[in-house]
Amino acid sequence: MRIDILTVLPELLASPLNESILKRAQQKGLAEIRVHNIRDYTTDKHRQVDDYPFGGEAGMVMKPEPVFRCIEGLKAERSYDEVIYTSPDGIRYDQHEANRLSTLENIIILCGHYKGLDYRIREHLVTCEISIGDYVLTGGELAAAVIVDSVVRIIPGAIGDEASALTDCFQDNLLAPPVYTRPAEFNGWRVPEILLSGNFAEIDKWREDQAFERTRRLRPDLLTEEE
Ligand code: ADE
Repeated sequence: MRIDILTVLPELLASPLNESILKRAQQKGLAEIRVHNIRDYTTDKHRQVDDYPFGGEAGMVMKPEPVFRCIEGLKAERSYDEVIYTSPDGIRYDQHEANRLSTLENIIILCGHYKGLDYRIREHLVTCEISIGDYVLTGGELAAAVIVDSVVRIIPGAIGDEASALTDCFQDNLLAPPVYTRPAEFNGWRVPEILLSGNFAEIDKWREDQAFERTRRLRPDLLTEEE
C-alpha cells in the first residue's frame, strides 16, 4: 500500500511514522509512506500556501494552486483509490473505516490547516473527508498520523502475531477483555483462575463474556451499532 501525505508541517509527521510497527511495515515493503511539503509546490518567491478569505472572515485559507499541483503530479504517476482530507467536519473515523482503508492500494491524505481549504480543493480533488473525533486540532497532521497508524498496523504481516490484529478491541464491536501476565499473584491480587486452568475452550468463553460485559458497562452504544 502506498500513502502520500500532503502537509505544511512535515516535521510533525516524522516521528509517528518512523517508529515501531510503522517503521517495520515500511522496511518489509508492506507500506510506502511519502510526506510532501505543500510549500515545495508553490511558485512564488514567498512560497505562500495560504491567503485571506474572500468575504472578510477571520483566519487564513489554504490556497488551491500548490495542492492541485502536488496531487495532479502524484495522479500522473499512479491512480489513487481515495484522496482523504482530515477535517473536524468529516465523517467520524472508526475501526470499520480503518479496515476499509487498509484494503486499498494507493491513498492520499491531505492535512488541513489554518481556517480550512479553498473549497474548490474539497469539491474537485477530495473524495473522502475524515474527522478523528468531535474536537478541533490545530491541524490535520495528528489526525493523519492516527489514520496511517491504525491502517498500516492491520495490513497482513505488519504485526508479527497475525491473530493479534484480528482480536483487537473494536474488530467485532466489542471492547477487549482484560489481559494478565506473570506473576500470577501480585500484591495479593490473583490472576483469574480460569486463565491458569489450561482449558482453552473455557478461557475463550471467559474472554468473550468479559468483552461483552465490559462493552455493556462502558460502551453500550457499540452493541447497538450497525456492522
Ligand atoms: N483537523 C482539526 N481537527 C480535526 C479532527 N478532529 N479530525 C481530523 N482532522 C482535524
